[in-house]
Amino acid sequence: MSQPLQILYDEHRSIAAVLDALAHLLREAARGKAVDPKVFRQILYYLDVVPERYHHPKEDEFLFAPLRRRTHEADDLVARLEHQHRMGLESMAHLEQSMARWDAGGDAERAAFLAAATTFVDRYRQHMQLEEDELMPLAQRALTAEDWAAAEAQFALHHDPLKGAEESAELFRRILYLAPPPIGLGDPLPD
Ligand SMILES: [Fe+2]
Ligand SMILES: [Fe+2]
Repeated sequence: MSQPLQILYDEHRSIAAVLDALAHLLREAARGKAVDPKVFRQILYYLDVVPERYHHPKEDEFLFAPLRRRTHEADDLVARLEHQHRMGLESMAHLEQSMARWDAGGDAERAAFLAAATTFVDRYRQHMQLEEDELMPLAQRALTAEDWAAAEAQFALHHDPLKGAEESAELFRRILYLAPPPIGLGDPLPD
């Protein structure tokens, strides 16, 4: 596997771990267990920064665009994935609005947030699956050494997207702490 593809694949693993943590918390909340809304806010922040603002633009520019230039075989698939990236921004906005409503409106707004977040997790998992099953193998075949070198050079300039963000050093660790075993402990965080 080319190095840029491996990086994108590794980012999927990190995002998947956070989605697993979120899904676990949503199940707990649906069962009536009290979950601190602050934890959901932290996960939403991660999903906004890492997949939406960091991972998707890299895919758009260094996988989808060169794939379009090298072959028409992937045109429909790329169009579908680009559409999902655009829809992802809308879903994030919807999720953040649901979270704000829960904050302001309390229990009456809780179920709507849980439903929106559950839909988000399902759709995002399907999106990554489609990229891994269909797009990445096609890219591995169709992109040239020149395409990969351009991606590698740009990826080397990218730094930790959470660097400098409030609580960033702790954010990913804290989210994963909440995930069910074997990823995390599935326990409330210690203060
Ligand atoms: Fe994507
Ligand atoms: Fe992706």
